[in-house]
Amino acid sequence: MEGKRWSQNVSLFLVIFFIPLLFHELQASPEYSRPPPRRIIYTPHDRPDSHPQQVHISLGGKDHMRVSWLTIDKSVPSIVEYGKISGKYESSATGEHTSYRYFFYSSGKIHHVKIGPLESDTTYYYRCGGFGDEFTFKTPPSTFPIEFSVAGDLGQTEWTAATLAHVNKTDYDVLLLPGDLSYADSQQPLWDTFGRFVEPYASHRPWMVTQGNHEIESFPIIHTQAFKAYNARWPMPFHESGSTSNLYYSFDVAGVHIIMLGSYTDFNSHSAQFKWLEADLAMVDRGRTPWLVVLVHAPWYSTNTAHQGEGDSMRNALEELLYKARVDIVFAGHVHAYERFTRVFDNKANSCGPVYVTIGDGGNREGLALMFKKPPSPLSLFREASFGHGRLRVLNRTHAHWSWHRNDDSDSTVADDVWLESLSKSKLCEETVKAQIPSVSLNDEL
Ligand SMILES: *[C@@H]1O[C@H](CO)[C@@H](O)[C@H](O)[C@H]1NC(C)=O
Ligand SMILES: *[C@@H]1O[C@H](CO)[C@@H](O)[C@H](O)[C@H]1NC(C)=O
Ligand SMILES: [Fe+2]
Repeated sequence: MEGKRWSQNVSLFLVIFFIPLLFHELQASPEYSRPPPRRIIYTPHDRPDSHPQQVHISLGGKDHMRVSWLTIDKSVPSIVEYGKISGKYESSATGEHTSYRYFFYSSGKIHHVKIGPLESDTTYYYRCGGFGDEFTFKTPPSTFPIEFSVAGDLGQTEWTAATLAHVNKTDYDVLLLPGDLSYADSQQPLWDTFGRFVEPYASHRPWMVTQGNHEIESFPIIHTQAFKAYNARWPMPFHESGSTSNLYYSFDVAGVHIIMLGSYTDFNSHSAQFKWLEADLAMVDRGRTPWLVVLVHAPWYSTNTAHQGEGDSMRNALEELLYKARVDIVFAGHVHAYERFTRVFDNKANSCGPVYVTIGDGGNREGLALMFKKPPSPLSLFREASFGHGRLRVLNRTHAHWSWHRNDDSDSTVADDVWLESLSKSKLCEETVKAQIPSVSLNDEL
């Protein structure tokens, strides 16, 4: 039966393959050449239709986890049973379900169930829908230290498999993904293969994502509503953070306030996102969350020739808000390479501005963005076009260690690392950003 389902998926895939792909390729930028990408891995559906597949978890507000999964069988209830002992589920919770259509594609039943309150730094065992495999996850700690893995522009290729295997070698707490997940690019069965591909990792640790251009998937006249699959499959705690859109939200975890912004929805000063961001930043208490981290998709600072200037309008709209709030780090994806900047504000080195990092090198099917601008900018401290992932270990209120791990084929090698100090402890920066005087202006134009 699964074989038949699979062949149906494949034929649907072929029917709807060409038009959207052509449309997508026309949008792609032609000025740089990428190396041969590695093969896509099509992870098959090999469980009974009533069993959960594509299980993934995300932080769902204070002390809660959202469990998301899909069943082909529409009669399966949206229930999660869970507990601290394997096979013994003391608690259960019921949630909601959704499904969507896209051209001739019709999704399975997509379930989302919030469970909790959960204890911090604790292993839980859980089962979805009353059938099938048991899964397990660990909740993040409530205090420092905490470790984040950061990987953008993932896709589902052999490179992605290498990246995720390396990510899984550390006992990290939360994965942060600055956009571009499945690279389905309108081919909806690829969202299902992606869900199955990441399940061993995303069911094990919370994955917190924001959207990239590959999630838009709107199509003139027929599918004008953007982010249909993304919003149905990867809901994030936007409601819990006072946002009205799944495209931007925030959350707190162990002394770190993390803001996920939307590069592909309105961000100008009259927009809902701008107003939400302003209000969210105003509520940040650096006594409680000394670290402030922001993720976007299209980088605001980049010296790669790929996608030059695509983040400029968003930077112009929002950079001052982030600077005044003394944001510590801004992670971006989109450019398929790694790059780390010094602290920057308004195109100049500024010791009170955020450190900017591009980490769009998770391993997708498009390959790497090899070309960097010459001569190098003094603001850009490290840049390299290789696949890999990052680790942010926040040790205490003041110190964090950032490292970038390059995929040397099957091995993972630390290629760049740096100690970071939180801006929350700097009285000088607090005064400086209020007065909006750049504290250190080296006149290093990008
Ligand atoms: C990830 O790491 C954990 C702990 O070391 C291990 O049990 C698990 O099998 C790994 N997952 C995959 C998919 O390799
Ligand atoms: C924070 O961690 C850093 C790095 O390990 C250490 O040097 C520093 O003393 C720690 N600060 C506090 C207050 O524990
Ligand atoms: Fe992108």
